[in-house]
Amino acid sequence: SPSDPDLVERARAAKEKLGEKVFVLGHHYQRDEVIQFADVTGDSFKLAKDAAARPEAEYIVFCGVHFMAESADILTSDDQKVVLPDLAAGCSMADMATAEQVAECWDVLTEAGVAEQVVPVSYMNSSADIKAFTGKHGGTICTSSNARRALDWAFEQGEKVLFLPDQHLGRNTAVRDMGMSLDDCVLYNPHKPNGGLTAEELRGAKMILWRGHCSVHGRFSLDSVNDVRERIPGVNVLVHPECKHEVVAAADYVGSTEYIINTLEAAPAGSKWAIGTELNLVRRLANRFADQGKEIVFLDKTVCFCSTMNRIDLPHLVWALESLAEGNLVNRIEVDKETETFAKLALERMLALP
Ligand code: 13P
Ligand code: SF4
Repeated sequence: SPSDPDLVERARAAKEKLGEKVFVLGHHYQRDEVIQFADVTGDSFKLAKDAAARPEAEYIVFCGVHFMAESADILTSDDQKVVLPDLAAGCSMADMATAEQVAECWDVLTEAGVAEQVVPVSYMNSSADIKAFTGKHGGTICTSSNARRALDWAFEQGEKVLFLPDQHLGRNTAVRDMGMSLDDCVLYNPHKPNGGLTAEELRGAKMILWRGHCSVHGRFSLDSVNDVRERIPGVNVLVHPECKHEVVAAADYVGSTEYIINTLEAAPAGSKWAIGTELNLVRRLANRFADQGKEIVFLDKTVCFCSTMNRIDLPHLVWALESLAEGNLVNRIEVDKETETFAKLALERMLALP
């Protein structure tokens, strides 16, 4: 079992044997049994920077999902090896934009005569291929904690943004934070000819949103918000910007996982919170702040874990650490040179944002 004291002891021993050679990163959505072995925890932005700031570690064990491990590989030096304890830990949102689909989209934009006005902005939750496309076409990466700054920057470079692959983060940032209207946004559907859009619609749009979403955050609805407000009078609703626009519009606070944690840390005793993000994090925060008298509940009535984040469990972590301690490099995530060069350009533009 995951709480098996034997596994806990084995993880501890393998980590101790590896010493400075290993650095373990843990995303906030990871299980408690894994988080206890993380040298650092964070949102995608913080973890990308933390990985780059550890040149002495030969192995970066990334407890998170595939695109995060790829980004860590891109940002670390060539002799550092990034390890993902379970190779099946992907992200369904990242899978919604493939290199072929995005190349085809660029052709559609070119055909409509708008490509030269378009700056791509890609969410961190995308494959290295998509990041490379973004870098090649003068764009930047963003995360949920700097999407506003990334879009401000992009609109200084061009008149339109192609936002990949999360339509919700793109729409929420443009409309809620930047005062654009819903009519300024169009939705590009990669499964329809020409994205399901006319050349005229593309010419009229400021934000061209890719039709991708997160299935975990997609479960929260306006009803979840209304129900919780009825159930808990005075509750503050705090959600991740991957939620649908109507949910974000009805919430009191919106931000990345790191923002959610900071907001709850600063909240006064006696305050009540309903949180719209992944369940491992919400449960951990509810436990952590219970004795400070902060009441923290999950926004929806049903549970929703990110099933791919959850694939990294203690047995997989133990296996990865013990293999490394025995000199076997397992589950290395390595982005090819050509992709890395352009993806790095896009990631460095993000790191240089004001
Ligand atoms: P954060 O950037 O807020 O950590 O979010 C990453 C993610 O995958 C959210 O679903
Ligand atoms: Fe991807 Fe959603 Fe899981 Fe985040 S929560 S890793 S966006 S599937």
